[in-house]
Order: sequence, then structure tokens, then C-alpha cells
Amino acid sequence: MQATAQIGVTGLAVMGRNLARNFARHGYTVAVHNRTPTRTKALVEEFGHEGAFVAAETAEEFVAALERPRRLMIMVQAGAATDAVIEEFASLLEPGDMIIDGGNAHFAETRRRERALRERGLHFVGAGVSGGEEGALNGPSIMPGGSPEAYASLGPMFEKISAKVDGEPCTTHVGTDGAGHFVKMVHNGIEYADMQLIGEAYDLLRQVAGFSPAAIAEIFREWNKGRLDSYLIEITAEVLAHTDAATGKPFVDVVADAAGQKGTGRWTVQTALELGSPVTAIAQATFARAASGQSALRGAYRGLPGGTSWDLTSYEAERFTAQVEQALYASKLIAYDQGWKMILDAADEFGWEIDLGAVAKIWRGGCIIRAAFLDRIRAAYAADPGLVSLLSDAGFAAEITDAQVPWREVIAIAARRGVPVPAFSAALSYYDSLRAERLPAALTQGQRDYFGAHTYRRVDREGSFHTLWGTAD
Ligand code: NAP
Ligand code: ATR
Repeated sequence: MQATAQIGVTGLAVMGRNLARNFARHGYTVAVHNRTPTRTKALVEEFGHEGAFVAAETAEEFVAALERPRRLMIMVQAGAATDAVIEEFASLLEPGDMIIDGGNAHFAETRRRERALRERGLHFVGAGVSGGEEGALNGPSIMPGGSPEAYASLGPMFEKISAKVDGEPCTTHVGTDGAGHFVKMVHNGIEYADMQLIGEAYDLLRQVAGFSPAAIAEIFREWNKGRLDSYLIEITAEVLAHTDAATGKPFVDVVADAAGQKGTGRWTVQTALELGSPVTAIAQATFARAASGQSALRGAYRGLPGGTSWDLTSYEAERFTAQVEQALYASKLIAYDQGWKMILDAADEFGWEIDLGAVAKIWRGGCIIRAAFLDRIRAAYAADPGLVSLLSDAGFAAEITDAQVPWREVIAIAARRGVPVPAFSAALSYYDSLRAERLPAALTQGQRDYFGAHTYRRVDREGSFHTLWGTAD
């Protein structure tokens, strides 16, 4: 077989098939391979007219079809399948060749695989790919890690096939080894928080203001014209406006209220605990999904007393709606700030040089959290690449200042009415904790010293101190 393909894709389920087509549509010759060859045949039969494909039945044929240094992209299930496929191909490759894992691998696995393949002279690039099936075909957000040498070879191809915003590609070299998969994981964690915050805003508008799903859809459509403009707000309006054909009821009322999850939110929270990154809004969003599925426990709590209720006048409902917009925006700002800080903490821990402004830039299109807001974050980092927090940016600081009264009022009303707002509350408490002059952590240190002689530092002297508790010193 002649080596004519610039890239090879193995694993031709929805994601791999669409990425292969995307490469081909952009003029690349693409070698395609799948464990079960019928998928390879089907792809070429159905979409062969879209560009140049080389169908390979065996691993040897697939490798032989690739120009050197070879670029071989794996789009199979994360975990054992990815290891099996890497092992199969690594033995057929030569030093300098590149294996790209575009699946949803855990970043620690990517670090392990990168190390092992580097020792064999191969480049291993863990690339987060976001945007699902549609994005893979028409332009995903791509978050590659791995070596700068590998990116020099792969970058131009990723730039061609990725989503574009203002003519700029939604991809960049995120950092070395597992940095790409790490950033993809945090993207999903932020996505969990964003979805939960939107859910809480909906619940407040429904339960406190008494609006119907269709009326709330209109409110979200309005919000989508302003600073909350985002894919998630847009689809929320669509979902809320949808009527169930079988019953004629609002669609949201016929869906069981137990949210699923497959893992990336949980990975984010687990990793955050290890890094000591306080991603409280992301954690609350992940726990909220888990709590929604605890049917026996919910049964035990159901019927217990809640808050007090009262009817809002239409003027009050309108005012409350504006307040919820402020609370949602402020909480979202905090959730994103937590995600950004977690990336900074990981960069310190793993020695990655991550350009946080570039991360904001590549999330402006192609991925689930794409939003106008990300362009603001990009601009904030452009003005000051050393930002420790988004709130160090004057524009964001002004907005959070402006939101103070409504943000607090909305959460207070939710508490009085008994409407759960775990992510709104976590975001506000995080804000209040970090802006505080003094925290009760001083008391925690006193307690730790009392029961465990763990020592403490003082505000007025250097050194480490221990008090002889129970003595009269
Ligand atoms: P998938 O269902 O996760 O994986 C199916 C593919 O993996 C098939 O090509 C299958 O081959 C292959 N495979 C499974 N076990 C294998 C093994 N032991 N050896 C060789 N091949 C094996 O497909 P997907 O939904 O397209 O996702 C691909 C990757 O992208 C996953 O890591 C996924 O998490 C990630 N991802 C998915 C989405 C999404 O929206 N679906 C978005 C971003 C990223 P056979 O045909 O022979 O069974
Ligand atoms: P996107 O960013 O385009 O949404 P994604 O992160 O791969 O792509 O998510 C697509 C789907 O794959 C989601 O349903 C996701 O589940 P969660 O929302 O629970 O995270 C799922 N998914 C992600 N990683 C997975 C994994 N390792 N195994 C199985 N499913 C996974």
C-alpha cells in the first residue's frame, strides 16, 4: 500500500467517522480503520465522495498507508480499549511517529501513556475533542497536549478542521503530556456547573415567580441577547418551549427528574480534591445530579416542612426575574473562576505552561460551553496574562459589585421559600470566603492544636507555635 495519507483515524463510531470526514473535507487524504471492518467499508461507501479516503482492513495496511512521520488518531472508548489499540499500533510505528488519542481519557492515563511511548521514541498526544457528533464533523474545539514538536506537525491540521470564531481556530497547544485532556475535563466540570446554575434559575422563576415553562423559555431567549448569550442558554429556551406530543404537557414536566452522569464532572471534583482547588460550584453541580437520583432518600425527605410561600405581584415577578439574571451571571462568573484557578493549580503541580487566555479563546466555539462570555475572559487575559482571578479584571469586578444586592436577595428568597439553590449558594459563599479579611480557619487551627498538637502560625510573629492546653500559660 502506498503511503499517501496525511492522517489516519482508527475507531469509526460516531466521533471517529465524523472527524475522518472533517479531515477529508478539508483536503487531507485520510486513512481509515476500525476493529470491525464493516464500519470502514460503510464509511467509504457512504461518504467516499466527500474526499480522499484510504480504507485499511488490517493494522499493517493502515500504518503502511500513512506518510512519515505518521499521524495516527485513535477514537475508541476510553480506558482498556484505548490501551489495547495503542499497544497494537505502537509496535508497528517508528521513532518520530505520532499517536493522537482524541477519546475522553483521564489526564493521568494520558500522562502515563505519554511517558511510556516517549521511551519508545513515539509522540503521544492526548487531545480533548469537544462538540459531540455534530462538532466532530463541522468543527470541534480541540485541546491537544503532548510535545511542542508533535503540535508543530499536527497544529495546522487541527486548525483547519476546528470550529472558527472571528476567523480564529478553536484549538491551541494547551501544554505538554496530559494538559489537553486535563483542560477538557475541566471544561466538562464547568459545563456541569453552568447547567446546574441554569437549572436553579429556571426553578426559581417557576416556583417563586410562578412563570410557566413557555414563559421562562421567553425569558431565556431575552437573556440570550445579553451577556448570558451562550449555547447552553439557547438550548435551554428550546427545551423549555417544547411540548410533549403524547400528553400536550410541557416537555420538562414529563421528564423524570433524575439527572445522569458518565464521569467527567466526578473526575473534575476528584482531581480538585487532590489539588486542593476549591471548585465548590462544580462540586455542588455534580452532587446535585447524584442527589436527584437518590430516589429512596428523596422519598424519606419528601413531605418534610419547607419554607413559607407568598404570591408575587406581576411587578415583583418582573423585578425578581431581573434579579435572577444578576444572580445567575454572578454565580457563573464564580464557577468559571473556580475552573480557571483549578487549571492554574494543575499547571503548577504538573509543570504545564498553560495560556489561560488561549483556553478561553478555544472554548468560544465548537464546545458545549461556547459563549460570548468566553470572549470577555479572553480579553481579560489579553490585557493581563498574569490574572490570578477573573475578579482581578476591572470589568468583571464591576459586574460582581453591581450584582451584590440581587445575588444575595435571590439566595435569601430561595432559602425562605425552600427552593434548592446549591450552586448559587456555593458560588456566593466562595465569593464571601475569599473576600473576607479574617476566616474562622484561625479557630480550626486552634482546635487542631488542642486535640493533635498540630501547631499554628501567628499573625504577629514568625514561627510555629503550640499551646500547652489546660495549663495556665
Ligand atoms: P465509542 O462508542 O466510545 O467507541 C466505539 C469505537 O471504539 C468503535 O470504533 C469500536 O470498534 C472501538 N473499540 C472499542 N473497543 C475496542 C477494542 N478493544 N479494540 C479496538 N477498537 C475498539 O465511540 P464514540 O462515541 O465515537 O467516541 C469515541 C471516543 O470519543 C470515546 O473515547 C468518547 O468518550 C470520545 N468522545 C465522545 C463524544 C460523543 O459525543 N460521543 C464526544 C467527545 C469525545 P468496533 O466498531 O469494532 O466495536
Ligand atoms: P462534549 O464536550 O462534546 O459534550 P463529551 O465530553 O465527550 O463531549 O461528552 C459527550 C458524552 O460522553 C457525555 O454524555 C459524557 O457524559 P457526562 O456528561 O456524564 O460527562 C460522555 N462521556 C464523557 N466521558 C466519558 C467516558 N470516559 N466514558 C463514557 N462516557 C463519557
